[in-house]
Amino acid sequence: MLVPPPLALYIHIPWCVRKCPYCDFNSHGLSGELPVRKYVQALVRDLEQDLPLVWGRSVHSVFFGGGTPSLFPPAAIAEILSACSARLRFAPDAEITLECNPGTAEHGRFAAYREAGVNRISFGIQSFDDGCLRRLGRIHDSAEAEAAVKSAQDDGLDNLNLDLMYALPGQDLGMALRDVERAVALAPAHVSHYHLTLEPNTVFAAKPPEGLPDEDAAWDMQDACIARLAHAGYAQYEVSAYARPGRQCRHNLNYWRFGDYLGIGAGAHGKLSLGASGEIRRRWKVKNPRDYLATAGTPASIGGDDPIAPEDRPFDYMLNALRLVDGFSLHDFEARTGMPRSGISAELDTAISRGWLQVEGDTVRPTTMGRRFTNDVIGLFLRG
Ligand SMILES: C[S@@+](CC[C@H](N)C(=O)[O-])C[C@H]1O[C@@H](n2cnc3c(N)ncnc32)[C@H](O)[C@@H]1O
Ligand code: SF4
Repeated sequence: MLVPPPLALYIHIPWCVRKCPYCDFNSHGLSGELPVRKYVQALVRDLEQDLPLVWGRSVHSVFFGGGTPSLFPPAAIAEILSACSARLRFAPDAEITLECNPGTAEHGRFAAYREAGVNRISFGIQSFDDGCLRRLGRIHDSAEAEAAVKSAQDDGLDNLNLDLMYALPGQDLGMALRDVERAVALAPAHVSHYHLTLEPNTVFAAKPPEGLPDEDAAWDMQDACIARLAHAGYAQYEVSAYARPGRQCRHNLNYWRFGDYLGIGAGAHGKLSLGASGEIRRRWKVKNPRDYLATAGTPASIGGDDPIAPEDRPFDYMLNALRLVDGFSLHDFEARTGMPRSGISAELDTAISRGWLQVEGDTVRPTTMGRRFTNDVIGLFLRG
């Protein structure tokens, strides 16, 4: 029996000062003025169109992602949040995150974001090495990155995440560790540590940068950084996520636990369980910001709205849940997919016999080896 899980709200802001050569997010380098006013109005129309899908449910987290949401002034973020909270029920302790590029963090901005209701900032730091930052095409240097984090802390925001990437062009193990050292010296609540990937249709995919570390070197970096982060009190809880106790990102945890989310904004994706019909749907909005601005709130703004077939749900669930160090409970698997646990027992047995998963009571957890072969473990659940 499908039980509607917690609900989150994702808000996409699709512009950046300049497009980074490694990035395949729906983000567009700015040319001309930012259409803040029109975009805020479009988001509200978009939300209103989707409201009947989530009637009466509470929102536990909000995430402004991008792109670069910190390009939007605090007054616009305040307007979006008050329009959303007037139409949706926000849980009293809702986590509200805003992604920030340190190159866009003017002094005094964070106090105003906080005033608007933002209580968590996620900084795109990537590296503290100025050579690496240049090779990544970033718009800021390490001094600006540190100043931005300190400015947020001075403005009373203590729930901060720093995004780092590793296996960067020209980076060795010592440099990767120094990045982690500089991050933990700023005492954030959370660190995300991503392996730089060459995504199709990016500048880096077309012309890979020189000096990329090989796979073995990248594993060594990850192992050493996990140990350094653990030593500093940041426990790994997902493939790329590390947190101090109690500071895991609630919004992302909800994705990984196959929770529900409404997505508004250009190219934003949502996933919703419709309790009454037993359906789970994935729904997304048109990607191009110009098309989105022209159509938001009308059926033409829907890029797609597809049900997840019952036979595909176990794979979809595992794609998320097996990224978590603590795995999942079979009870949650049943409640969130609407499928019986007996439907995955053959795959679980195979994974256990290969030493990839362990089961304790109701809990299924990847082993250390399972974490190294996450894609193979998930692949077992692929049907057809
Ligand atoms: C939407 S961006 C964060 C906010 C802001 N746009 C910025 O870059 O400062 C999300 C994060 O994804 C990570 N990321 C983007 N492209 C990546 C890639 N090709 N490989 C690994 N991580 C990537 C970066 O760490 C980035 O900070
Ligand atoms: S990494 Fe961030 S700043 Fe760079 S293009 Fe992607 S979304 Fe924009």
